[in-house]
Amino acid sequence: MSEDISPRDCLIVALDLPSLAEAEAIVARLGDSVSFYKIGMELTYAGGLTLVERLVGDGKKVFIDLKLHDIPNTVERATRQIAKLGASFLTVHAYPQSMTAALAGVAGSELKLLAVTVMTSYDDADLAAAGYAFSVKDLVARRAVQAKEAGIHGLVLSPEEVVNVRALVGPQMSLVTPGIRPAGAAVGDQKRIMTPALAIAAGADHLVVGRPVTGAADPVAVAEQIVADIASARQSSKTERK
Ligand code: C5P
Repeated sequence: MSEDISPRDCLIVALDLPSLAEAEAIVARLGDSVSFYKIGMELTYAGGLTLVERLVGDGKKVFIDLKLHDIPNTVERATRQIAKLGASFLTVHAYPQSMTAALAGVAGSELKLLAVTVMTSYDDADLAAAGYAFSVKDLVARRAVQAKEAGIHGLVLSPEEVVNVRALVGPQMSLVTPGIRPAGAAVGDQKRIMTPALAIAAGADHLVVGRPVTGAADPVAVAEQIVADIASARQSSKTERK
């Protein structure tokens, strides 16, 4: 994992909220405690892309999670538009055509691409029903390697997959994991979860956390605790390596 990312920049708070007003309210409340936000489909379709430029103007980093997948011409042109917004990360499904097209679309911009290997809601039976001849584990491995070969910056994956995937793709790719729950937080609909400290110890570069922060009675305290957990997990990993 990359140690040149500050512990605060490791934490990406998912703004999964139904309106721009609610998203702006939580961003204002979180203030300096959060430096990196994720805007996904829900907020995008509620006008959320207008928030990207404002966040970037306020010195925040933004991850646009739109999981692009279409014919190459459409993916390339969509990516080129998104690259103008000033975000740091954009997701694309890890299909070779889509990854190649998205890479053409980000050329000349600061936007980096993260590939989604297999949605974590899929199990082996879901893949078979969708016509795939691979298990989840094998398809994640195949797509992780294809993403690396295509020149994609990083991957979005379940924290449980980090150790295996890191061994496959090496130290350079950014590994970004949702499914993070601080000890004692409500699990919600996430199935394969890990604490911030364990995900960092496994080798994750960024942790995506939504409801445990945005739904907390004291969101600043939760965000600060996660940043502190990230910092101490890194310190322990460093000490162990000595
Ligand atoms: O609220 P919570 O912490 O569960 O939010 C996790 C975020 O990460 C959500 O925005 C969700 O869409 C996203 N995500 C995920 N699992 C994936 C990919 C993305 O939970 N495999």
